[in-house]
Amino acid sequence: MDFSKDLSIIILAAGKGKRMKSETPKVLHRICGQPLIYYILKQAILLEPKNIFIIIGYKKEMIREYLDSSFPSVKAIDQDSQSGTGHAVMMVKDDFPGMGKNILILSGDSPLITAGTLTSLVKLRSENDLSVSILTSKVRDPAGYGRIIKDRDGKVLKIVEDADASREEKLITEVNSSIYCFERDHLLENIDNIDKQNSQGEYYLTDIIEMLINKGKRAETFVVSDHQEARGINDRSQLSEIEDMLRQRINKKHMENGITIRNPSSVYIEDTVQIEPDTIIEASCFLRGDTMIGKGCSIGPFAQIDDTKIGWSTIVNSSVIIGAGIGPENNIGPYCYIRPGTITGKKVKIGAFCEVKKSNIDEGSKVPHLSYVGDTEIGAGVNIGASSVTVNYNGFSKSRTIIEDGVFIGSDTMLIAPVRIGKGAIVAAGSVITGDVPGNAMAIERAKQKNIKNGAVKYRNRKKMDREK
Ligand code: UD1
Ligand code: CA
Repeated sequence: MDFSKDLSIIILAAGKGKRMKSETPKVLHRICGQPLIYYILKQAILLEPKNIFIIIGYKKEMIREYLDSSFPSVKAIDQDSQSGTGHAVMMVKDDFPGMGKNILILSGDSPLITAGTLTSLVKLRSENDLSVSILTSKVRDPAGYGRIIKDRDGKVLKIVEDADASREEKLITEVNSSIYCFERDHLLENIDNIDKQNSQGEYYLTDIIEMLINKGKRAETFVVSDHQEARGINDRSQLSEIEDMLRQRINKKHMENGITIRNPSSVYIEDTVQIEPDTIIEASCFLRGDTMIGKGCSIGPFAQIDDTKIGWSTIVNSSVIIGAGIGPENNIGPYCYIRPGTITGKKVKIGAFCEVKKSNIDEGSKVPHLSYVGDTEIGAGVNIGASSVTVNYNGFSKSRTIIEDGVFIGSDTMLIAPVRIGKGAIVAAGSVITGDVPGNAMAIERAKQKNIKNGAVKYRNRKKMDREK
């Protein structure tokens, strides 16, 4: 962007956000998995500014910690008393000389704003050599917002805060978004002249507009085409409304990239999730965190997938998968619980009502029904019969089970770890295996069966007599 060398961004985020009624500062409340400030910073960075400053105050240590880990290049500046938006901007006054001509001011609580809109706002100012361009929106209910006061010719005169507006001014529906692009020197020359003579006793940044106009400078508004984009969050119900819009925006992006989403209003995909084309997301899915889904998969209905990588052409039906690596062409579910540290190879099947934890399952192996596999290495081409359990915990410590390639484990087998089942071995159904099984051996551990002749008849007769007593 041509103006980028001449642009710095200041994000106002020192306020407490009283109406959130929270111990967490407003900008750290999460929507679609990330704090509000993440979305604003992501868009701000796209403009490639010289600097990004963020003004922090309420619970500033929490914000600083987040920024240090996620956005280390952003400069956090303290505003110890939150005396208004004008006062917040004063905190970076000494840095103005190095900022460039364009100073873009953003509000920390408007996460839907896009880089495209911000670019238009900066262009409007710089191409027309304005003192300030103001991002505004036309809303049905302007209550609570600062109103844009214009003369008959549509020339901006000032901004009046809701709390200070007259009855006629309150009828104005063009409102201030708290996002502006200022010409640096004009901002610097006037910032110290803001006073607190208003109903809230705060230094209003908005007062600068009238000062500039009175000095013969020019201000214009840029009316955002989608008024939702400029919406701020003041309370929890707005938080959920904005999250819903963001969720729709994320789903739309995936659909544009070639993903089918069957019932988008029931699908929640966090901003960090990546999905490759021709994957189908069925209804009621939650895809979160550092999740990547390959091409041609079928996910859901009813899947919860967190921090998991999934290969191509895999089916996941009605299952919960957390912190796993699922290979290509797997068939998972319905009703699986796959826990952290699980890695599967190609063409693995994990079927109904199975739980798998911290285990590797190699190519072509199957755990089809009602089993628990934990702390286990399963080789390739292994079949685990229904209701089998790797008994990994003795009440004090965990141990590993090793099942080598080509092993067949009969149904209802308990493998008491630590234990190793050698390559090609067979374990007969119903066995409780406490010792290693050599390769190609057959292990049977169960009492010998005895059949009592007519025993069933005798049993029924005895029961009948008991009842008649
Ligand atoms: C502000 C605008 C209003 C606009 C509205 C849009 C002013 C005086 N009013 O009002 O015209 O319609 O935003 O949402 O600017 N902040 C600080 N330090 C402070 C005070 C606020 O950093 O001392 C930050 C807040 O954390 C917030 C932003 O500035 O991110 C806006 O402050 P807020 O108190 O929400 O202003 P509004 O009353 O909503
Ligand atoms: Ca606000």
